[in-house]
Formats: sequence, structure tokens, C-alpha cells
Amino acid sequence: MGACWSNKIKADTTPLQTGVTSRSAGDEDPGISRVSDPATPRSETEILQSSNLKSFSFGELRSATRNFRPDSVLGGGGFGSVFKGWIDEHTFGPAKPGTGMIVAVKKLNQEGPQGHREWLAEINYLGHLHHPNLVRLIGFCLEDEQRLLVYEFMPRGSMENHLFRRGTYFQPLSWSHRVRVALGAARGLAFLHNSEPKVIYRDFKTSNILLDPNYNAKLSDFGLARDGPTDQKSHVSTRVMGTYGYAAPEYLATGRLTAKNDVYSFGVVLLEMLSGRRVIDKNKPQEQHNLVDWAKPYLTNKRRILHVMDARLQGQYSLDQAQMVAKLALGCLDAEPRLRPNMDDVVKELEQLSSRKHQHNRQHHQTSNCRESLLSGPQNNTAAGSLAYPRPSASPFFSKQ
Ligand SMILES: Nc1ncnc2c1ncn2[C@@H]1O[C@H](COP(=O)(O)OP(=O)(O)OP(=O)(O)O)[C@@H](O)[C@H]1O
Ligand SMILES: [Mg+2]
Repeated sequence: MGACWSNKIKADTTPLQTGVTSRSAGDEDPGISRVSDPATPRSETEILQSSNLKSFSFGELRSATRNFRPDSVLGGGGFGSVFKGWIDEHTFGPAKPGTGMIVAVKKLNQEGPQGHREWLAEINYLGHLHHPNLVRLIGFCLEDEQRLLVYEFMPRGSMENHLFRRGTYFQPLSWSHRVRVALGAARGLAFLHNSEPKVIYRDFKTSNILLDPNYNAKLSDFGLARDGPTDQKSHVSTRVMGTYGYAAPEYLATGRLTAKNDVYSFGVVLLEMLSGRRVIDKNKPQEQHNLVDWAKPYLTNKRRILHVMDARLQGQYSLDQAQMVAKLALGCLDAEPRLRPNMDDVVKELEQLSSRKHQHNRQHHQTSNCRESLLSGPQNNTAAGSLAYPRPSASPFFSKQ
């Protein structure tokens, strides 16, 4: 989850500045609830008591994960390791492996860069925000130094794994699945931005997009989320936090956070989906280390887009479709935040794209032929090339204040 925080922040005991409450709006889509009006900052006790989440004991989670067995590790990040576990679907008590409900248990690494504050932020937001494109938080554990979070299990893991894993064992994610995931993630962000008060996610990246069996995307990791500006203010002033490559340049430069920061990050992820490349990849030639800098000039020209496209997608999309996504990505990555679309616009564009019939048989030949001549250069990133893709660590941006 999230990026690292400095020790100074880990020691911070001030209540989180948020107005999240548990009220649900009756006129929303089923399964969706919104946050209510801004309230005063809330204390830890208020957050934990009002969250409607199950409070687990450490012993219960130890049993549910079979003593945090190493072979049940699902993954790991800045917060700590994530374990597969089983709980009874009615009582939420620990269950025998293979029975009841599967959960993902995230255990804070006490030696790691994240801490209590990120744990509490997760409970604060996911304890109250409910939407089909946000992962469901089931409960938490707070016992002595232990901090854990219990989520619904997402069987297909993260988008990051699907996009960047290489090897003959893995099928590359198809074009239609990529579009589906992009649309789901866009809906999740749009929901946050339309909440009252607005929530800025601040850590949008492929490892925080989890997938259910049908490739529905759900956002996880609200450790860096912040309430958006209120009272006619244009931005929130924050310490600069996030992950290198994904944070908007104006945010990095000023610490002024707006929802357009998330839109920029969304553009980065769109580009990663189009290209199958990581935003920062030091294995590439120098001029290709930063995907955004390298790809932008290619995205403005219909033919040159093929330089950027993931070779493993060959024949699955039409040039028009590629151009549409490229244009959307370029808009999201605009250096001027006000010119970036908002997430509602992005959702509309992607809905249009996903509802289009795949009328590209004729164009399929076009894309195939074009690629053959275009891919003789160093930018060929075919699976056959089996390039090493080391996982970029979530990098902290330290306090500017
Ligand atoms: N609810 C879940 N269901 C299934 N797998 C999960 C779940 N939550 C996390 N994972 C797996 O654990 C991995 C680590 O997740 P985590 O959120 O701790 O770190 P991260 O997002 O990968 O990294 P960072 O700390 O840089 O944000 C994910 O990439 C995913 O593969
Ligand atoms: Mg994560």
C-alpha cells in the first residue's frame, strides 16, 4: 500500500483531517454509499468505533492464516506482507482452510516505512466508502504493536502482476480486459472525486488495482488518501507523498494536491496498459527510462502510436481504438492540470470505447503489417524478448514542509 512515510510522520498523533462519516445515500446505485458532509477531524477512537468493521484479535488472525504461513503469502509492499486466510462468513471467526470465506490479511511490518497512520487512514476511508470498484475492508486488528487489515480476497491479484509478469506460463492480459480494468478503476476514482467531501486517492498505480474473477477492478490502499479542498479552496497543501513516476509534476513541485493529481496518475496507468511497460524502467535504454517522456511524442500521430503499443496485443485492437486511448492518456497527462479531463469525462470515454463493437478485422491487418516494419528498432518489447522487469519499489517523497 502507499508509499513510505518519514519517521516524523509515523510519530504523528494528530487526528486525521477528514470528514468521512458512515451515512449512506439512499438515491445512489445499489452497492454504493457516499461520505457525508465535512465534519471536524476525528480521533482514532471515533474512527475505529464508527467504522462498522469487525475488530479481530491477533490470535483470530493468526489462526485464520495458519500462523502467517510463508506459503500463504499473496504479496508484499511498503506496509508489510499480505497473507491468504479463511474466516467464517457469518461470524467472521477463523475457519479451517478451504472452508468459509477467503480473506487477504495485511500485516504491518513494524520495521517498515509505513505505520499506524496509514493503517488508520485505510480504516477511516474504506470503513465508510462502499462502491463496486473499491476493495471491501472487512476488519482490522489493533493489539499492542500489531496492526493488521482484513480485506475481501481478490483472486486475480493486482493489475501490476497481469501487466508486467513475463514468462511462458502467463497469458498477457487481452485488450478487452485492459479496457475493462481501466473503466472499472476510472469509475472507482470518479466515485471518490464525486464524494462529499471529495476524496483524493493520491496513490493510483497498477499495484493498487486488484482484480476479481471477472476482471472487475477494485482500488485498494487508502493509506495516502486525503480529503479534497473545501470552502472554495482550489487545493490542499500537503507534504509530497506518492510513488515516483505516477505523481503529477505540479504536485511534486508545489505540494498542492487536487483531484487532477489522480487524473495524471490515471494517464500514467493508461500508458502502462497500452504499452505493457512500467512507468520507470531502468532496464531500458536511457531515453526510454521514463515511459511518459518517451511515449508522449508518439501518441500524437496515428501511425506512430504503434511504436508505443504492447506487441503482445497485436491484432486485438483497431488503430481507431488505440488512438482513442492514446488521446485520452495524453489529455490526462497534460502539463496544465486544468486542461486534464475530470474522471467523469474519462469514464464516459472509456464506456464508449468498451461498448464499441470490435470492427477492426480490416484494420487488424493494418496494425499487424505496420508493427512488423515498426518493430525492428530497440523499442520492441515482445514477450519473446523476455526482458527482466524488476518491480519498482514505491518511493517516498519526503516532506517539503
Ligand atoms: N485483497 C487482496 N486480495 C488478493 N491479493 C491481494 C490483496 N491485497 C493485496 N494483495 C496482493 O498483495 C500485493 C501487495 O499489496 P500491498 O498493497 O501490500 O503492496 P503494493 O500495493 O504492491 O505496494 P506498495 O507498498 O508500493 O503500494 C498486491 O500486489 C497483491 O498481489
Ligand atoms: Mg497496494
